[in-house]
Amino acid sequence: MSEIQPSSRGVNGSRRRVAVVFGGTSSEHGVSCLTAAGVLSALDRDRFDVVGIGITRTGRWILVDPETISRLGVTDGKLPELGENAAEAVLMRVSSGSELAVREQSALSHLGPVDVALTLLHGPFGEDGTIQGLFEMMGTRYVGAGVLASAVGMDKHYMKLVLAASGLPVGPFVPITPAEWRRDKTACLEATAALHYPVFVKPSRGGSSLGISKVDDPAQLEEAIQVAQAYDPKIIVEQGFVGARELECGVLADLDGGPPLASVVAEIRVHSKSGFYDFEAKYLPEEQVDLDVPADVRPELASQVQELAARTFDAIGCEGLARVDMFVTHEGDVVINEINTMPGFTAHSMFPRMWAASGVSYPELVERLITLALRRPVGLR
Ligand SMILES: Nc1ncnc2c1ncn2[C@@H]1O[C@H](COP(=O)(O)OP(=O)(O)O)[C@@H](O)[C@H]1O
Ligand SMILES: [Mg+2]
Repeated sequence: MSEIQPSSRGVNGSRRRVAVVFGGTSSEHGVSCLTAAGVLSALDRDRFDVVGIGITRTGRWILVDPETISRLGVTDGKLPELGENAAEAVLMRVSSGSELAVREQSALSHLGPVDVALTLLHGPFGEDGTIQGLFEMMGTRYVGAGVLASAVGMDKHYMKLVLAASGLPVGPFVPITPAEWRRDKTACLEATAALHYPVFVKPSRGGSSLGISKVDDPAQLEEAIQVAQAYDPKIIVEQGFVGARELECGVLADLDGGPPLASVVAEIRVHSKSGFYDFEAKYLPEEQVDLDVPADVRPELASQVQELAARTFDAIGCEGLARVDMFVTHEGDVVINEINTMPGFTAHSMFPRMWAASGVSYPELVERLITLALRRPVGLR
């Protein structure tokens, strides 16, 4: 792996200014706040000047000072949440890129340029290309995948189409759009008849396993579809892989433009009642799940998973980072489940743990992502 270059100094020797963008309107608001606190503790403040942009639950952009971000944590078993009553953060397009200002009452105070945005948002309106599009329009460099890769990575239906068209292994699936469901429910249910049970019914653009059901019996299918539709009007029904192993692999873009780099492979072993990696298993007590970093797999399987992860990253057109999740079926076939373009990113999350086990510490990881973003041009690339 190549050295991380200390390219954090601006041309005039000043520290590069990083806007840490966190919170957000999705169900992962609190997790994003914890991630921001973790990232702040890892950022070298001698090299990077940090400004915090919090997005409240209602979608307001507010200025949050770095010390406040560092203190965000779980209190009385509750995840942190940004208050609504703070001065508004305003991002403005200027000829050289973008600038940040703060608006209090109606007075606007300029805070100077933003060199790079480090968005730590998960789910819709964070990981799906929308905020990435805003940064493109604003001329702001940002960490991670661009507009198209973010949008494709978020939508399980299009993700599978792109991967399959690139010759990558995905399981059988049937998408159901809200228009199709409105027009003819019976035809939608019939379209899934070729899938073997159990099937998994998912919101197409969901995360954290919210709205996902494992369905053992066709009589329960319609109800599961309605559960998923509460999270996203577009849903996907997938063939279930019974007794499959769940492996994950972290991918990082190469600093010098070489092929993407894959981390050690990790395994998730779930013992939850639902029998899959559901919301409770992801966020509640550890007894439900064992996380093996690295996974206990044969070297050939590890290499296969790493190669598929890097090819998935390229097929989607990812930049920066991604976590690719796979199943190894009972028969030993490797199938790609999904790509996450903004994977969980606290120091204890799988992505940083897989990279730590591969020799890239959490602070190095954060710095590498910022360096990658600073190096890439704005606009079409
Ligand atoms: N086709 C499938 N076969 C078996 N298990 C599945 C399948 N799809 C999902 N799962 C289980 O559900 C979990 C969540 O599904 P996933 O597609 O990763 O959704 P999310 O984007 O919410 O993480 C997976 O980690 C896995 O445990
Ligand atoms: Mg997942």
